[in-house]
Amino acid sequence: MNQLGPKKDVYDKILLMYSGGLDTSCMIKWLQEKYKSKIYTFTADIGQEFADPSRFEEIEEKAYDLGVIKHYTVDLKEEFVKEYIFPTIKANGLYQGVYPLSTAVGRPLIAIEAIKIAKREKIEAIAHGCTGKGNDQIRFNVTIRAYAPNIEILQPLIEWNMGRDEEIKYASFYGIPIKKQNQKYSIDENLFGRSAECDTLEHPEIEPPEDSYDWTSTPEYSPDTVEYIQIHFEKGVPVGLNNEKINSVDLIRKLHNIGCKHGIGRINHMEDRAIGLKSREVYEVPAALILIKAHKDLEKYVCTKHENSFKAMVDQRWTELVYEGLWVDPLKDALDAFINIMNEKVTGKVKMKLYKGSANVVSRESPYGLYDINLATYDTSSTFNQKFSYGFIPLWGLQSQIGFQVKNTIKKLEGEKLNKKIEIIEYEKIRNQ
Ligand code: ARG
Repeated sequence: MNQLGPKKDVYDKILLMYSGGLDTSCMIKWLQEKYKSKIYTFTADIGQEFADPSRFEEIEEKAYDLGVIKHYTVDLKEEFVKEYIFPTIKANGLYQGVYPLSTAVGRPLIAIEAIKIAKREKIEAIAHGCTGKGNDQIRFNVTIRAYAPNIEILQPLIEWNMGRDEEIKYASFYGIPIKKQNQKYSIDENLFGRSAECDTLEHPEIEPPEDSYDWTSTPEYSPDTVEYIQIHFEKGVPVGLNNEKINSVDLIRKLHNIGCKHGIGRINHMEDRAIGLKSREVYEVPAALILIKAHKDLEKYVCTKHENSFKAMVDQRWTELVYEGLWVDPLKDALDAFINIMNEKVTGKVKMKLYKGSANVVSRESPYGLYDINLATYDTSSTFNQKFSYGFIPLWGLQSQIGFQVKNTIKKLEGEKLNKKIEIIEYEKIRNQ
């Protein structure tokens, strides 16, 4: 590649992925001026406005006020849950053991929808509001390049070099309304989670301030009473709550509300970004955490120990691919195939106890469970023949036991050799006196 950055000085039309926030609002004006372009905007509804769906109308209005030719709001909630969140649950997707990929899995979906709009409107470039330092730029760009290699990608935040203060000046010059709340933190939200960065959060040695959380109640002030929930899975997918069938989006919303009430899903993470930076991230992921915990428990119950240990490696690889923006990599398809086969038998019910920030599995049941009480019980009725131990353990430990003894023999011989050397030196000393 001989050129980094935009290939042209002028674009007839640009599609901007628009959140309605300060960065992307400034971008509308900036792109209009810099590239003499007609700007189209697109906002994906993946459940980010839990409390207030009318926000999407506000965003649309704002876009038109800033001179956008056409604005698209597309409701992608169902697709998001079925095609992105459920696979994450099946893969027990927790990046570095803690982050359930809530932002990461939304990105390929948004990129694919943007491409559809760009093609429909014959737009040659897509712009987005990612910096050059994060993972989201990778997720958007790799997906766009894979699906539509001819569409150009513009990343104004890399080009314009404006700090937040300059953006605010720029915004007031162009009459772009600036919202006061949430200015401190950089926030990303969707049905599966909320992430916060910047400001005090950039100091890992300081506890995240209470105002960096927005969804969950403070665990110590959450209800004093325990709440039990039961989640019903079919083939690894959650389909019911407390003995009621429930559709995918509502299920996530319901678990979100219950989890928030009990202060569940606050995560404070030192994260390794794909580009190599370490960053402090704060998440609120109540539904994600409840579902992954429950799924993992049920899966473990129905799989053999060999399946379980191999699945953990596959899950980790899947999670890293998705985190690092490589949703389109054929390796993911292969891993998905394995994950789906494993999940064929992940059917059953998991009961969880929620209390002051914790969500713990208390019981599980499944027609595919591999547990056999007749074998496992400590009662005399057990059908397990304990005498097998006499034959099993010597064979099981055979190589380890031999290895241990060889290691010790060598150590002893080396010790003796050393003693011999010392003796010779001592002898030489006496002789030379
Ligand atoms: N670190 C997370 C990820 O890479 C979240 C990034 C979200 N962005 C934000 N502006 N808060 O998936």
